[in-house]
Amino acid sequence: MSLLILGGTGEARDLAAALRGSPGARVSLAGATRQALDLALPVRRGGFGSAEGFADYLRYESISAVLDATHPFAVRITARSRAVCDRLGVPYRQLLRPPWAPGPGDRWHSVPDAKAAVAKLPPDATVFLATGRQTLDEFVGLGARQVFVRVIDPPRAKFPFGRGRFIVGRPPFALPDETALFTALGVDWLVVKNSGGARGWAKLEAARTLRLPVVMIARPPGPQDRTFRDVAAAVDWVREEAPV
Ligand SMILES: NC(=O)c1ccc[n+]([C@@H]2O[C@H](COP(=O)([O-])OP(=O)(O)OC[C@H]3O[C@@H](n4cnc5c(N)ncnc54)[C@H](OP(=O)(O)O)[C@@H]3O)[C@@H](O)[C@H]2O)c1
Repeated sequence: MSLLILGGTGEARDLAAALRGSPGARVSLAGATRQALDLALPVRRGGFGSAEGFADYLRYESISAVLDATHPFAVRITARSRAVCDRLGVPYRQLLRPPWAPGPGDRWHSVPDAKAAVAKLPPDATVFLATGRQTLDEFVGLGARQVFVRVIDPPRAKFPFGRGRFIVGRPPFALPDETALFTALGVDWLVVKNSGGARGWAKLEAARTLRLPVVMIARPPGPQDRTFRDVAAAVDWVREEAPV
């Protein structure tokens, strides 16, 4: 058997670690970050070019199962991989961590997209944007607000907003560091995608501690069948149905 893990998340890294030494398993990364962290399995990097390119890859590499551990907001790769696997009769499963839910003391405002997120923010807000580098153009409406944008790689592009700057950092972050950062920057609103998972949780706990309001962008809808909620369940499936 030969298993392809579609990666780009901490969970994909955990999955690779759990399958370390399995000769038939490999990970595919989009190449979105300049320096990906090491993985415990062989890695291929870069897009497949198209649905047909992905189908060709699966055929050429004799892939017998696909485990999609891409990010919950990476909806294009997920929809396409599922469709191609179904067409070729290759078993497909998704590892999809549960979304975050607010608890006591949280001041979350749930919105469907970036435009609605901007509309929630007061004109004089100091905003911490934790939504990633790739979708910054969706936040053009931020106007004159002071904005801090967290990115993994030191940016090559010009800062896209009138006031503020990039903050470079790679998750996971610790609660005391997040609290200190928001306080030092004078942040009074957080904008977050509902990615879920433990690695990104500290910023929300910091917001709770500091009583900061959070604009939470909801997940795009997608099929919920053939989905595992945690790495252990996905590993069980590999061991039972797609041993590598
Ligand atoms: N969206 C987020 O908020 C977010 C956050 C953290 C990490 N990521 C990771 O960053 C990557 C890109 O995210 P996105 O939102 O741009 O995805 P996307 O919109 O669903 O996919 C865009 C394109 O990226 C390529 N791609 C994505 N994942 C790939 C993988 N694992 N292996 C090979 N090619 C891949 C494909 O290119 P081709 O069409 O050329 O095959 C795909 O068409 C994903 O792997 C995702 O897990 C995304």
